[in-house]
Amino acid sequence: MQVQGKRAVVTGGGSGIGLVIAQALADAGCTVLITGRTESRLVEAAATRENISHAVCDVTDEAVVVALRDRVEADGGCDLLINNAGVMHRYDVTSDFSLAKKLQEIDIDASGPVRMVHHFLPGMLRREAAIVNVSSGLAFVPFSQAPVYSGTKAFLHAYTQSLRAQLAGTSVSVVELMPPVVDTPMVAELDPSFSRMPPEELAAAFMKGLAKGTLEITPGQSSQLRFMRRAAPGFIFGQLNKQARP
Ligand SMILES: NC(=O)c1ccc[n+]([C@@H]2O[C@H](COP(=O)([O-])OP(=O)(O)OC[C@H]3O[C@@H](n4cnc5c(N)ncnc54)[C@H](OP(=O)(O)O)[C@@H]3O)[C@@H](O)[C@H]2O)c1
Repeated sequence: MQVQGKRAVVTGGGSGIGLVIAQALADAGCTVLITGRTESRLVEAAATRENISHAVCDVTDEAVVVALRDRVEADGGCDLLINNAGVMHRYDVTSDFSLAKKLQEIDIDASGPVRMVHHFLPGMLRREAAIVNVSSGLAFVPFSQAPVYSGTKAFLHAYTQSLRAQLAGTSVSVVELMPPVVDTPMVAELDPSFSRMPPEELAAAFMKGLAKGTLEITPGQSSQLRFMRRAAPGFIFGQLNKQARP
């Protein structure tokens, strides 16, 4: 996809992967709207490029998502919807880790993209557009320390494949970005033995994949996870989950 002159919406664009993708798109000539819950973070992130603006939007709040959609449509519409917002909870299933947090994780990571697509797709079908769902290499092999998170990413992978099949032949293409471990606030507490890809490297791989029309972009170790879950599923599960509990 040629991104010059396109209008992009990046959920969770105030930090980490969303921010570097927003910056890479802005540098390639896109007009970018970043969203998230924390306004101060969004203001700071939007100030890094002239063509990035921001809107506070919690992907779990349908009324706010609809208001965002209406604002974006009034401004000319969305050509590129990047469903990136996410949280990850690592917890011991025998602990008293809150049920509310587990269910909220599903609402953000799984229902969030569904909610965004539900409300943005009708407008996007009127133009050449793309939906990008940011899942994870963990869509292929679950990480037992993050049980709900791993489930949401497998869900997002299956949802994205189904969306792509149904939208074949329309003006909307569907892309999945499956990052490996990337050095962002989300993984700050993760064991240092997990190697982390620099966020800028991930953004560069994403832009390259988008330009080439790659439908499943699997940078770094995500590509190995994809191969290994077919070649040796038990082995790769064991390797990833040597330490089953956080
Ligand atoms: N880092 C990794 O190793 C890695 C690997 C594979 C996949 N991913 C995926 O990449 C995406 C981005 O993660 P990241 O590593 O960049 O983490 P991050 O730096 O923690 O960024 C997540 C962003 O999502 C926003 N967010 C969280 N809940 C939200 C909600 N309800 N509504 C709107 N925005 C919300 C956060 O902002 P607020 O809290 O201010 O809302 C934050 O800006 C996630 O989907 C994650 O699962 C990350």
